[in-house]
Amino acid sequence: MKRFLIQTFGCQMNVHDSRRIEEVLAADGYAPTDQPELADLILFNTCSVREKAEHKLRSAVGTFRPLKRQRPDTVLAVAGCMAQEHGEALLEELDLVDVLIGPDNIPELPALVRSVQGGAPPLARTVFDLDDPSFLHATPRTGQREVCSFVTVMKGCDERCSFCIVPHTRGAERYRPADDIVAEVAALVAGGVREITLLGQTVNSWHEPGQQSHDDESQFPALLRRIATEVPGLLRLRYTSPHPRHVTPSLVAAHRELEVLPAHVHLPVQSGSDRLLKRMIRRYRRADYVERARALQGARPGFTLSTDIIVGFPGETEQDFLQTLTLVEEVGFVSAFCFKYSPRPYTPALKLGDDVSEEVKSERLSRLFEQVERQQQAHLDALVGTRTRVLFEGPSKQSPVAELPAAATARFSGRSDRHDIVHVDVPAGFDLTGHVLEARVTHANRHSLVGELTAAPPEEARAPAVEELAGRTRLPVLGS
Ligand code: SAH
Ligand code: F3S
Repeated sequence: MKRFLIQTFGCQMNVHDSRRIEEVLAADGYAPTDQPELADLILFNTCSVREKAEHKLRSAVGTFRPLKRQRPDTVLAVAGCMAQEHGEALLEELDLVDVLIGPDNIPELPALVRSVQGGAPPLARTVFDLDDPSFLHATPRTGQREVCSFVTVMKGCDERCSFCIVPHTRGAERYRPADDIVAEVAALVAGGVREITLLGQTVNSWHEPGQQSHDDESQFPALLRRIATEVPGLLRLRYTSPHPRHVTPSLVAAHRELEVLPAHVHLPVQSGSDRLLKRMIRRYRRADYVERARALQGARPGFTLSTDIIVGFPGETEQDFLQTLTLVEEVGFVSAFCFKYSPRPYTPALKLGDDVSEEVKSERLSRLFEQVERQQQAHLDALVGTRTRVLFEGPSKQSPVAELPAAATARFSGRSDRHDIVHVDVPAGFDLTGHVLEARVTHANRHSLVGELTAAPPEEARAPAVEELAGRTRLPVLGS
């Protein structure tokens, strides 16, 4: 039996791609292993959004040098954005690597590995499928209960934000037909999935392929409505990441009307300064963002927003940065991914230089973190005593609270409608995975909530057989 091991770096898109890589390999007779010395193929699914992510990959590959010396037949492959960005040059730079494969070439992976095993020199395949885009289908995992799954609705990006390498590494926008999307969602839900996250670089710009409908602001909301209507068994429908430019009145209306949508959206803003938003080529002003954020927040009581922010973009002054801090407060984000600007090849911002010192970037990042943490804590603290619906995703990595005898209880974690992490303890013998249950929040941790079920766990949540639990594995994800 051939075996593979995958290490994933970066975003949800990569996590999703890694699952598709697993499926392609499984169809070719491979089985997964977590022991490198047993693997015939070790694959790194990479990220190149920031330079740090590239460093991580280089050091991860380096750790396999002794193994490759001992077992030269082990094939090392690099997939994802770094493979696409560097192409064959990466094969020269990383002498241990045998195969490079771009995001659109995943189905060709087994053949490339076979060629290398048959004696071919290192091979690179990084060609976009622009003329005939294909979207790899997620297949439900048999015998395992997977609560949350991703479905790609578009790939590539035409926005060209001046800091971002993604348009280069993922290519031009390509859209998937609604019929295919709905069919994949339905198949996953029939296989037991409860929550779907629609994926795309600007997911809410989705429109039916071939229909020049950028002026029709209702296509993505119409897709959400179609999924909600045609797949009634779906309990939660998320999407990531939307671009503020495409937050339209009909999208807000969908949030008001469709119960399957959560009361939370991750809406990247990047900066609170109009001067910088312009230099970033974000194509909205601060006031536009605030207006759209307010519209979403008004769609449902308690609606929350999270965001992405870059500090230290070329030319960012203290004044610009203060604008970002005041925006964070004004919008009331409950969490944020905050990054130091990292100059990337093939991006328009390169010509602006990188004139904010590392020291100032670090200092701004920590001030921003403090502000975000304060808001997150206030948000979580305010939820203590309230009731919330939780979709349980599985056993918690945390142990049950100390006062209870450990053997008598089990802790499960899930997400509330607002995407807050919630832990609850239940008597041993129950498995809440995949159930939506109401919890009363009893305590706020730094980044999560602890609660108790408002009713006894339902009989259907009696724990399944041990073999079934053992089959539930998660991919290792290394942050970028
Ligand atoms: N539209 C994509 C964005 C991908 S990049 C999505 O679906 O999320 C994710 C985030 O990384 C961006 O929102 C931005 O905040 C950050 N980022 C991108 N390029 C960067 C760079 N050169 N330096 C620092 N942060 C960057
Ligand atoms: Fe990047 Fe902007 Fe597209 S952040 S992925 S160029 S929307």
